[in-house]
Amino acid sequence: MSMLQAFEPPLDMSQDIYIGEDENLPKSHCSENDKWPSERNICSDQTLPISGSNTSDSEPTSSETNKLTDQSFERTTKEEEIHMDESTVEKFSSSVHPKGLCNGSMDDLNIVAGSDACCSNSSANGRETPHAHDWMDPLTRLHVPLVDVDKVRCIIRNIVRDWAPEGQNERDQCYKPILDELNHQFPDRCKERPPTCLVPGAGLGRLALEISCLGFISQGNEFSYYMMICSNFILNYTQMAGEWTIYPWIHSNCNSLFDKDQLRAVSFPDIHPSSAGITEGFSMCAGDFVEVYNDENQEGSWDAVVTCFFIDTAHNIVEYVETISKILKTGGVWINLGPLLYHFADSYAPEDEMSIELSLEDVKKVAFHYGFVMEKEKIIETTYTANPLSMMQNRYFTSFWTMRKNK
Ligand SMILES: C[S@@+](CC[C@H](N)C(=O)[O-])C[C@H]1O[C@@H](n2cnc3c(N)ncnc32)[C@H](O)[C@@H]1O
Repeated sequence: MSMLQAFEPPLDMSQDIYIGEDENLPKSHCSENDKWPSERNICSDQTLPISGSNTSDSEPTSSETNKLTDQSFERTTKEEEIHMDESTVEKFSSSVHPKGLCNGSMDDLNIVAGSDACCSNSSANGRETPHAHDWMDPLTRLHVPLVDVDKVRCIIRNIVRDWAPEGQNERDQCYKPILDELNHQFPDRCKERPPTCLVPGAGLGRLALEISCLGFISQGNEFSYYMMICSNFILNYTQMAGEWTIYPWIHSNCNSLFDKDQLRAVSFPDIHPSSAGITEGFSMCAGDFVEVYNDENQEGSWDAVVTCFFIDTAHNIVEYVETISKILKTGGVWINLGPLLYHFADSYAPEDEMSIELSLEDVKKVAFHYGFVMEKEKIIETTYTANPLSMMQNRYFTSFWTMRKNK
């Protein structure tokens, strides 16, 4: 069975920065470069599965990796998803913009040699693209905008949160209460007809995978290209636990007790995703939550919606609540864990889109208006992408709730 049926990344990679604890990172969520383009639908009916279940095939080679940026990007429907099952690892298949990552808002993503070269095998002066060891040469130095560097660093921290042994404590704080609650809410899950659960803003997909392993048909939804590329890599390309090594804290020069803390290696993933015991139907769907799920065939189709560190990513949180209510079945549950650190709260420029920043009290009122009743509510203390060995530990007192849609 096809593990990866389609992957359609959004054109924009914006809004994927949640404030972690890296004091080197800017404390704003979004920069001018982070604007989401008006056209946000990202899915295609083009599916180009490149199968590869044996080890050598599944190891991404450099030429396979290039496919990611070389293929054409066509957007037609919103329905395509990344699927995986337990037995098969299928290659990343996507359609990318005809100019690959070298177009429009993606320009900045290219690692360019000199000022003119972009997506070319030759640099501006006609020389061949330099070898890896030439990068120190001032003529061929990489020009990557800081905003993109920050995003990559953010993703690296998210790898630790979701997929490294070091992130276990944080996962226990954030994901375990949600998984326990799902277990409690759906005690009689049967394999023949598993309940369905949607995870909007799924990040690197670990929570969605854990929900799948619990016996749900689980779907993660995510609109950050950075997140999707990375989760696709981990979910679909990993051959064994601990296969990859990163140095996630190497860029953080502050608050280290010992040099070795900053220099320490972290291997991931802590589990082999394909062997984790997922329920058939596990998928990742790329796209903006409100746009993708406001489709009429989504109405009343989910038994549970789980939001973790997500609802404050909204320009308009009322729209999120309304969409969650719409897509849940009557009697379905919405489990939430997260703060209200509204991502667009600091957007003051006139061209910025709106940001509605409700208090927790008012978010609950909105939810009640859309037919929810509160069943369980508490505060849970957590970190978010924390470096466990740092001298600085930011803690959130997150709101956890279970609401049921009554009408
Ligand atoms: C703070 S992160 C949390 C990720 C994950 N839930 C976790 O707990 O680690 C918020 C995620 O929501 C995604 N996101 C933000 N707005 C979104 C939208 N409108 N539709 C889909 N995903 C969105 C971001 O790209 C980011 O990955």
